[in-house]
Amino acid sequence: DKRCTLRDIRHWARDDHKFPMITCYDATTARHLYEGGCRVMLVGDTAAQMILGHDSTLPVPCEFMIQLTAAVRRGAPKALIMGDMPFGSYQCSDDDAMKNACRFLSHGNADLVKLEVDMTHAPLVHRMTHAGIPVVAHIGSRPQTVRAMGGFLSSGRTKRVADILIETAETMIAHGAAALLVEAVPDEVTERIVAAAKQPGSGRPVPVIGCGAGPAAHGHVVVFHDIFGLSDWQPPFAKPIYNMGEKIQEAGAKWVELVESGRYLRDGGPYTMLDES
Ligand code: KIV
Ligand code: NA
Repeated sequence: DKRCTLRDIRHWARDDHKFPMITCYDATTARHLYEGGCRVMLVGDTAAQMILGHDSTLPVPCEFMIQLTAAVRRGAPKALIMGDMPFGSYQCSDDDAMKNACRFLSHGNADLVKLEVDMTHAPLVHRMTHAGIPVVAHIGSRPQTVRAMGGFLSSGRTKRVADILIETAETMIAHGAAALLVEAVPDEVTERIVAAAKQPGSGRPVPVIGCGAGPAAHGHVVVFHDIFGLSDWQPPFAKPIYNMGEKIQEAGAKWVELVESGRYLRDGGPYTMLDES
């Protein structure tokens, strides 16, 4: 099969073919997800929580995210891979942001970068787009603002904020955003964003990916650990599809038992001494 590209998600959005996206942080899982048919992967800054064990997405280094992105690419060479620009990698200056975004594409081998944005990011989105860096504009709930907000919050639940989100979505598209990601907003807000998300000129849909944002989105994303039953906290829109946490616990217990009982390698190991003559 062919490598999945931005054109594919554009076509899926145009043809109203719902597409799945899932977070992924390593080559092995990427290989298995791709085998399972997952074509679109996000190397999310949720790696800070799921991989590194932090309680927010803030502390993950950009270099680490780029390494994970490269790993996911090695595991799924033909997937469409989004690299999530972490906190600190695009906030300090647009020049830094450009350098870091370039590294996501060159070293990380990502197809697109994702940024959590508001109106102030419009010039940066424009600059990246014109440099050949496709940008996913992440709006709605923005976990990198957790300290400013005082917690992880939903978004767009008043008419006033909903209007701001629609305007932000339109501004991002006008500045070249290749796709939108909308997190934790009411269904109606996503409907309005999908209706507004049209490429300037052609009027074709700009792909809108929802994260707990209702049925209207063209694509839907969840965190791997949530739907595989590995998380200690469950978002209401990402129920476990499979209880891998329990399976790991069972397998761990079996390994402990195998060794502690003395049965492991009891009949000898696989390596015999070599004849040196
Ligand atoms: O980092 C992440 O996993 C994300 C998704 C939840 C949208 O940004
Ligand atoms: Na993220």
